[in-house]
Amino acid sequence: MGCVIATLYSRHGYDVVVNDVQTEMLQQFGTRAMPIASAITGDEAHAKNVVDRIRFEGDLERAVEGAILVHEVVQEVLSVKQALFHRLDRLCRENVVIATNTSSFLLSQIATDVTHKRRVLGIHYVTPAHIVRVVELIHAEFTPPEVVEWGGTFVSSLDHVDVAIAERPGFLVNRIQFAMLSEIYRLMDEGLASREGIDAAVRLSLGPRLALWGPLLTEDLVVSKRTALAVTDSLYDQTGDENFKARKALRQLVDQGHLGALTGKGWYEFGRGHEEVVTERDRQLAELLTWLRDYDAVGRIGVRSPAPSSPNRACDQVEGYLGPRSEFRRGIAIKRCRRR
Ligand SMILES: NC(=O)c1ccc[n+]([C@@H]2O[C@H](COP(=O)([O-])OP(=O)(O)OC[C@H]3O[C@@H](n4cnc5c(N)ncnc54)[C@H](O)[C@@H]3O)[C@@H](O)[C@H]2O)c1
Repeated sequence: MGCVIATLYSRHGYDVVVNDVQTEMLQQFGTRAMPIASAITGDEAHAKNVVDRIRFEGDLERAVEGAILVHEVVQEVLSVKQALFHRLDRLCRENVVIATNTSSFLLSQIATDVTHKRRVLGIHYVTPAHIVRVVELIHAEFTPPEVVEWGGTFVSSLDHVDVAIAERPGFLVNRIQFAMLSEIYRLMDEGLASREGIDAAVRLSLGPRLALWGPLLTEDLVVSKRTALAVTDSLYDQTGDENFKARKALRQLVDQGHLGALTGKGWYEFGRGHEEVVTERDRQLAELLTWLRDYDAVGRIGVRSPAPSSPNRACDQVEGYLGPRSEFRRGIAIKRCRRR
């Protein structure tokens, strides 16, 4: 991850010095960085220039000399990060921002032995960091707003987008991601659905909508808050699982009659009428789904197990199962299916 981050910083004009305790990591840096730089620049000569500008320094004290930002990207071991932060705190002037790319530790854990805690910030990239543009800016109680703001300006200078979050387990992206994954792990454990079924369900319904609009705007666009609340209440009643319990913010919107695009306001306010919003919503979604179907991302990845059945094959299977004399074959939905 350090290689990607260093290349990204160099690409955006920063003077970068890379330090690693393993000399061979520094020696192999160029080979690993070139494909990343090529992907960012789209031009071999430019990519070489980006990589060539990066300096390597095995001595930490010399590496951090004159830095405005020291970004720690060592492995996810708390004691290693704590020791490094303690050292950096002593090596760097008070106005040098010391950032961590930790995926899971809290800043307050990492900075236990740091005296000047105000300059400690989480700058957390999502893999592949040179392509995924969102960056989490994690702040602790001791991080002042101006340091977070500085982080936002820095991230913008990389043509990335910052999302600020107070330090909590999972921060923002992993908290959302693992809320979904933990339900999926449970479905797998209980054998309730196939892996292809789970992936298809997310890929063909939730995923494209989330990619276009994010979860809150999607909810505004596709469902009334009253229905959303009824569903969460029902899930909670059936499972007793606290994770499904409807939260205050949702109940408040329902109480205030802010049901989403339908009423002109939900999580967001809408400047156009419901019909117009829905027409635009459907146009965008149809375009993306058509592109996704034509692109066949799953097929191109080349996994060994078969991809989910295509709609035509599914129709064939339905006909085969019901049999030619089945009453159901006379139903409208089945009549549309054609045998190949
Ligand atoms: N790999 C990912 O996809 C990813 C994604 C997001 C965040 N992260 C986070 O980024 C960090 C690094 O992850 P990674 O997968 O690149 O780890 P890694 O183990 O591949 O690389 C860590 C590097 O740090 C070096 N190192 C160890 N101690 C050091 C020290 N004291 N001083 C200087 N260098 C030292 C190691 O030699 C190694 O080259 C972790 O905190 C991880 O959680 C990783």
